[in-house]
Amino acid sequence: MSSLLVDDIGELVTNEPGGEGGPLGIRRGVALLVEDGRVAWIGPSRDAPAADRRLDARGAAVLPGFVDSHAHLVFAGDRAAEFAARMAGQPYTGGGIRTTVGATRAAGDDELRATVRRLRDEALRQGTTTMEIKSGYGLTVADEARSLRIAAEVSEETTFLGAHVVPAEYADRPDDYVGLVCGPMLAAAAPHARWIDVFCERGAFDVDHARAILACGQAVGLGVRVHANQLGPGPGVQLGVELGAASVDHCTHLTDADVDALASTRVDGGHTTVATLLPGAEFSTRSPYPDARRLLDAGVTVALATDCNPGSSYTSSMPFCVALAVREMRMTPAEAVWAATAGGARALRRDDIGRLGVGARADLIVLDAPSHLHLAYRPGVPLIRQVLRNGVLQ
Ligand code: NIG
Ligand code: FE
Repeated sequence: MSSLLVDDIGELVTNEPGGEGGPLGIRRGVALLVEDGRVAWIGPSRDAPAADRRLDARGAAVLPGFVDSHAHLVFAGDRAAEFAARMAGQPYTGGGIRTTVGATRAAGDDELRATVRRLRDEALRQGTTTMEIKSGYGLTVADEARSLRIAAEVSEETTFLGAHVVPAEYADRPDDYVGLVCGPMLAAAAPHARWIDVFCERGAFDVDHARAILACGQAVGLGVRVHANQLGPGPGVQLGVELGAASVDHCTHLTDADVDALASTRVDGGHTTVATLLPGAEFSTRSPYPDARRLLDAGVTVALATDCNPGSSYTSSMPFCVALAVREMRMTPAEAVWAATAGGARALRRDDIGRLGVGARADLIVLDAPSHLHLAYRPGVPLIRQVLRNGVLQ
């Protein structure tokens, strides 16, 4: 059993009760002991137990690793030209998903694997220690199954998104495609997935198809998440609440009834349906940002995630999302940091990550800065000095 003492911490963001900064639970003058990949002790530096090794934080802020609860990493090709067209005034419609589906189907396993690992490593260098990964660019039984197999090699948080769009070959028979998703595709995907997700949006899946697909996933033990209310108002958020989804994601266009439904969620013995906001998508599609303030003021649990994908949000950077949320969505720096750590953990129904307390996984980041405030205050600057995952320096 090897132990590591993290010492000379400027501020320790725990996301635990007590401490300063409201839900951030900031503690000062403390050290943190890691044993067997877990946090074993936190207390005043002067009382720190002996350890095999020491990590000197040199007065910097130490935070839980970011929990990116929404990413689409299994794809081939990119859509830079589509981005350029948007910046010249074209709207985003999601139509480009089919372009990526074509490229993904044509790619070999090794190419897909290399992309997933490149983006996972890129995120890790920016402080992400847990990353959910969706399928959704294969849309055949074999291509969805292999997407999830490859995703599961690097993450335990994998999501079956066979219902991303109706692929071209099923364009005039969407009912048949829903049958495929609920039948052989789900059977092939489920062994490699923890979650099921549907893009419930005009032009993708309507509420009846979405409900049917999510219910099939639930019946085989998958947890529910929904792409909801991204491009316009719609039924996705309330469908997610109805089904006890862990998270409804995007939430860009919400009615008062949607906000009320989210605020009233208390399912699975205290779990809520989290609203996961993805500001990288609004940035990259030049769309209005979701109204985080309205959700927070209503008491909704909010998470931030990247939505990393080649179409609507090709960023793997949680610090970038934190900065956007603060500047553009009127979240306080504390709210944004909480949402990018503890919020992401809630969106994945995990209590072992997104916090630094005794027993939690020792997933933590040391900033090149004295305070979590710098994540928004110094946008675009590489502020992640060190990353520990399961107690191991990356
Ligand atoms: O979350 N909205 C649907 N899916 C992705 C975009 C996928 C794409 O454009 O390739 C999203 O934004
Ligand atoms: Fe997405």
